[in-house]
Amino acid sequence: MNLATANLEEDHVHIVLLTDVMEKMTTLPTANSFHLDEVVTIIKQFADGIHHAKEEDLLFPKMVEKGFSFQQGPITVMMNDHEQGRTFVRNMTEHILKYKAGNPEALPEVYKNMLNYTELLRAHIGKENNILFRMADNVLTPEEQQLLFDEFKQIGGSSSAGIGASDFIHRILILAKAYNIR
Ligand SMILES: [Fe+2]
Ligand SMILES: [Fe+2]
Repeated sequence: MNLATANLEEDHVHIVLLTDVMEKMTTLPTANSFHLDEVVTIIKQFADGIHHAKEEDLLFPKMVEKGFSFQQGPITVMMNDHEQGRTFVRNMTEHILKYKAGNPEALPEVYKNMLNYTELLRAHIGKENNILFRMADNVLTPEEQQLLFDEFKQIGGSSSAGIGASDFIHRILILAKAYNIR
């Protein structure tokens, strides 16, 4: 059983859906300010706040216990991707504020950072699903996966656990519907 990595992959499905929304938003000449804020809030609180916390605070340290390095190799690459993502989100937030203050020239900068984030996260999720999580599955016992999954629930849980994250997933689905995705 790979409960913990399966739970992270389930989060990925929703994060990818959010990047689909972002990509669609960037095709529009003007932006809905509420939706811009909503996207950033969901990234900060769900993709980074809950999902990356599960990885950085629980899965990666567990893998380090099993012999992986925090200083080099695949976990370092993942940590660097998370950090790069935070930079794009900071830029997005900064330019959304300018856009909302009445500066339409800030919108292309918002869009540029949204597309950078989208590209980064899709590639990152591909690396985790195909490589890193499979490495984790090779070294973690079913009991360790279960224990990690239980700890995930304390961070904000999974849609299947019905805690915390389910609200964000619901909000992503509402956005996806507003932008005619799936
Ligand atoms: Fe990650
Ligand atoms: Fe991830």
